[in-house]
Amino acid sequence: MIKQNENKLLRIGVIGLGYWGPNLVRVLSELPGCIVTALCDLNTNRLNQYCDKFPTAFGTTEISKVLTRDAVDAVVIATPTKTHYELAREALSQGIHTFVEKPLATSTSECNSLIEIAKDQDLILFVGHVFLHSAPVTKLKEMVLNDEFGEIYYMSSTRLNLGPVRHDVSALWDLAPHDISIMLDLMGSAPISVNCSGLAYLNRSIHDVCTLNMHFENNRMGIIHVSWLDPHKKREMTVVGSKKMAIYNDLEPLEKIRVYDNGVNYESTANPIGNSYADFQVSYRYGDMYCPRIAGVEPLYAELSNFVECILESKTPKTDGLNGLDVVRVIEAANASLMENLGDVEISPLTHSIGNVALSKSN
Ligand SMILES: NC(=O)c1ccc[n+]([C@@H]2O[C@H](COP(=O)([O-])OP(=O)(O)OC[C@H]3O[C@@H](n4cnc5c(N)ncnc54)[C@H](O)[C@@H]3O)[C@@H](O)[C@H]2O)c1
Repeated sequence: MIKQNENKLLRIGVIGLGYWGPNLVRVLSELPGCIVTALCDLNTNRLNQYCDKFPTAFGTTEISKVLTRDAVDAVVIATPTKTHYELAREALSQGIHTFVEKPLATSTSECNSLIEIAKDQDLILFVGHVFLHSAPVTKLKEMVLNDEFGEIYYMSSTRLNLGPVRHDVSALWDLAPHDISIMLDLMGSAPISVNCSGLAYLNRSIHDVCTLNMHFENNRMGIIHVSWLDPHKKREMTVVGSKKMAIYNDLEPLEKIRVYDNGVNYESTANPIGNSYADFQVSYRYGDMYCPRIAGVEPLYAELSNFVECILESKTPKTDGLNGLDVVRVIEAANASLMENLGDVEISPLTHSIGNVALSKSN
């Protein structure tokens, strides 16, 4: 069902005007087909600042004034992680299409509950896994589907910076959703098990630095290092396959992906029972490096246009509630490994598929 006001514009409210929310308001205010009609933040200084800048919207510190069909058709939630579930539940219960910043919620049961409400009410539930809408990740996915990397061996990523430090959740919950969402999409399946370690320095109950290992079927691996306590800003992911390898550096302005025609041939020699150094031959292939052309669309623009399009055209978003759940179930298991020092934690089998790659039996 298309829900629009008499000007045929989708009315959108934005909740949370801290570091990220204003970016969402800026892009929404430039998008065709919608209008920002409400802004909400508990902080009145921030609220006044952005109400002055975006005069199509009324401002309020009261959630109930935004979460009503009189004010909006859709809402974008960009508040701290721990508030996502309650706000999204209230919005969906009021019959409002809902965009929730990553991570969707802080447990799989919360995600399932949001998915159920959205389904019952025939509403769009959209999760802010912005990289799945970005041109570089779309390009990497295209390369995976075209078998350009050959058999994927592993992926590794680093997401480091000095801040922003969170007070409600660890770096695992705050930063890793980006890398997990990308790796799940490229691998085409959920991991079988995860193992996470980390340390909390600034606040003894919140981890500032985490490393997460995800084990996938067919001997594949995803390694993620996140930290908000690092002098160097880094946003890098490496994909290593049997045919080719690639490095995706999101901080590069133009050449974000470098594809290397490099590899290693590791072959046993004539002696079939030998296992010594001399019984294997290793040869290295150093081929060409090239940078594929990447479309110059701002990821946030692509993401929010997709949100609006999915509402207006009743389409299922790529980053829907199930996609949000996929990521949260990995973090939930990783968090158990981290907090309880459990080592490898198994992930329960999925009942739906991820990405465009067919899932194997146990996943
Ligand atoms: N997609 C991305 O790349 C990206 C980048 C940064 C942050 N985020 C996500 O955006 C969200 C917000 O992050 P941030 O960095 O802007 O945080 P922030 O702490 O800078 O801002 C949060 C804002 O929400 C307001 N707020 C808190 N509770 C509220 C409530 N109940 N009602 C109304 N307002 C409330 C606060 O006053 C604050 O202004 C988080 O979920 C984060 O994970 C996404």
